[in-house]
Parts: sequence; C-alpha cells; structure tokens
Amino acid sequence: MNKEKLKPKRVKDTMVTLARVMQPSDANPGGIVHGGSVMKEIDNAAGVVAIKHAGNLAVTASIDRIDFHNMIFIGEMITIKASINMAGRTSMEIGVRVDAEDLLKGTLRHVASAYLTFVAVDKTTGRPLEVPELILETDEEKRRNKQALKRKELRMAIKKFETSCKLDPNACINLDIS
Ligand SMILES: CC(C)(COP(=O)(O)OP(=O)(O)OC[C@H]1O[C@@H](n2cnc3c(N)ncnc32)[C@H](O)[C@@H]1OP(=O)(O)O)[C@@H](O)C(=O)NCCC(=O)NCCS
Repeated sequence: MNKEKLKPKRVKDTMVTLARVMQPSDANPGGIVHGGSVMKEIDNAAGVVAIKHAGNLAVTASIDRIDFHNMIFIGEMITIKASINMAGRTSMEIGVRVDAEDLLKGTLRHVASAYLTFVAVDKTTGRPLEVPELILETDEEKRRNKQALKRKELRMAIKKFETSCKLDPNACINLDIS
C-alpha cells in the first residue's frame, strides 16, 4: 500500500457540501419530493467524502436509519453536508445532514439526516483496503467519533445475530449490545 495514501487526514480535509434544486422528476404528482431522490443525494455526498478520505474507490456497505423531518417541494434547493465521523481499518462512517431552502422566501428547514458506512475497495479485486487514520481536532469531532464507534459495535452485533439466525433460526446467538 502506498504510504502517502495512508497519511492520516483531518475531518475538514474531506468534508463536502453539495446543493441541488429539486425538479419535477424528483417528485410525486403532488409536487412532494420522493424520499428516494433525497437518499440518492445523501449516498452521493457521503461517497465523495469516503473516496476523498480513502484515496481509493469506496462502496456503500450499509445505511443506518434515515430520518425525514420535513417535506421538500419542487423548486426548493437542498444542501447536503457530509463529513467523516469514524475511520476503522477499511470502513468509514459518514454523517449527512440535509437542509431545504425555499428560494423565494429564503427560509431554511432541516429535512433529513443519516449515517452511512462505506468500505474502501480495490477496483480490480473488490477486496477491502486499509484507509488512513482520522485526525480528530475539535470536541465535536471527538463526540461524533465516540458515538460512531458505538454504532459500529451495534451494527456488527446485529449482523452477527442475523447471520446466526439464518444458519439456524432456533439457535440465534444472544444479541450483545451492552
Ligand atoms: C462492503 C463489502 C466490501 C464488505 O466486504 P466484506 O468482505 O464483507 O468485508 P469484511 O467482513 O472484511 O469487513 C470489512 C469492513 O467492512 C465493515 N462492514 C462489513 N459489512 C458491513 C455492513 N453491512 N455495515 C457496515 N460495515 C460493514 C466491517 O466492519 C469492516 O470494517 P473495518 O475494516 O473498518 O473493521 C462487500 O460486502 C461489498 O462489496 N458489498 C457491496 C457494496 C456495494 O456494491 N454497494 C453499492 C450498492 S449498489
């Protein structure tokens, strides 16, 4: 692995803000934007952060619950802010916040938030690749990192539980999320 590629990175080195005006093709006939259109933008912004941090291709491994707090309408501009919360050995958790702006009124609403896990992969083999360490500078970054590590533990415990249940539905392992 190229040493330069594994040079530790700061959160601010990779954070992005993307914006897009919602079109009729993003919405239902009532003019309300589809959840799926917003999810695509969330995945896209988080992917940019993951690729910038990894310095390699990265794929979406999982998306935690997405909360939609408010409706979005055609003609509104959504702003998607994404930044890295945690870097594991090969995985990264990216936190995303989406705001919608009514361009005529100039009002802003928080419309969605989500956590996504990306894994850096080798383009040829598809195998996971190591990612650089994450440098945590602010108290906010340290708090987000601590919470992200806990969520990773939870995700892995649930994955293990589900695998054991698939193998034998009568012998699921205990779900240890203490
Ligand atoms: C994501 C993927 C690379 C993981 O491969 P894998 O061989 O299962 O990986 P491993 O078990 O070695 O785990 C690698 C890392 O991924 C993490 N991981 C694996 N599955 C995960 C999941 N479902 N959710 C979150 N993290 C996950 C592990 O915790 C590990 O992290 P770490 O190295 O930081 O500790 C593989 O499942 C894949 O290619 N999936 C398809 C991804 C894709 O195409 N996404 C777009 C969908 S259209």
